[in-house]
Amino acid sequence: MNIQWYPGHMTKAKRAMKEDMKLIDLIIELVDARVPLGSRNPDIDDLGAGKARMVLLNKSDLADEKINGQWVEYFINQGFQVVKVNCKTGDGLKQIGAAVQDACKEKIERDRRRGIQNRPIRAMVVGIPNVGKSTFINAFAKKACAKTGNKPGVTKGNQWIRLNKTLELLDTPGILWPKFEDQQVGLHLAFIGSINDEILNKEELALELIQLLSRNYPKALAERYQIEKPAAPLTAGESHLILKEIARVRACLLKGGELDTAKAAAIVLEDFRSGRLGRITLEQPCREGGELPKEDQG
Ligand code: G4P
Repeated sequence: MNIQWYPGHMTKAKRAMKEDMKLIDLIIELVDARVPLGSRNPDIDDLGAGKARMVLLNKSDLADEKINGQWVEYFINQGFQVVKVNCKTGDGLKQIGAAVQDACKEKIERDRRRGIQNRPIRAMVVGIPNVGKSTFINAFAKKACAKTGNKPGVTKGNQWIRLNKTLELLDTPGILWPKFEDQQVGLHLAFIGSINDEILNKEELALELIQLLSRNYPKALAERYQIEKPAAPLTAGESHLILKEIARVRACLLKGGELDTAKAAAIVLEDFRSGRLGRITLEQPCREGGELPKEDQG
């Protein structure tokens, strides 16, 4: 499956981000805990050179908890402040305030030496589509403002959100880069729903997901759909048979009684995206995009 993606507004958004970099102290980067590297914008390290950095490992509730810990360690070793969060429930958000102060301690100290007091930290929030950026901003703004009694102020004309006296957030559009050097990354982003499903062949995508799950989390499919545990590696034909089996179990039928594999494919993708197939991580820190070691297999 070849995934290509050419959003027209890409260059403009990148240019805007470069301009905005001049205004900020800190970059808060949301990544999807199931694909922490693949869901990072590869331009951000260049664009944000010299800025304080923070990674929010979001949707951590959908990812393998053991591997979440490994990713936290990985990003700390890369010099980031890291907070593992679930923006949907608000888990982890409380730790962000202290992490922001830590990430910006040099700036705070510099301000102090110059006699500048209480200048708010200005943070740019970045993340690819569907990573949970809006959910984060809403949940975090509520929390930050609840404490101080402030109301988040959104300044008209730009995307600055003033949370309180110490922190201002700059929201940026969620953008995807024009092409994936690594098709595996494209696939992972399609699995997690960051690429518009309309440009994808959902059935092919589900077959790829079945292949991957049968390798790394074979129990996931067997337990969810009450089918036999697949024996990896699957051939294309075998994955198709599994999809048909899922269609049969879920009574996905076309008018003439034929199995509706397109519907079954949509079910598999939705079950994965919502966590109903279990907590699944697609990428591991030591071998990016690689297989999980045997002992981690479900
Ligand atoms: P975006 O602005 O980055 O594009 O993403 P957005 O906040 O719209 O979030 C995309 C989807 O991810 C939403 O689900 C949201 O609820 C979900 N989400 C965000 N953070 C988390 C998290 O930490 N854990 C989980 N499990 N889900 C998260 P949706 O189905 O599109 O909407 P809804 O039905 O949940 O409202």
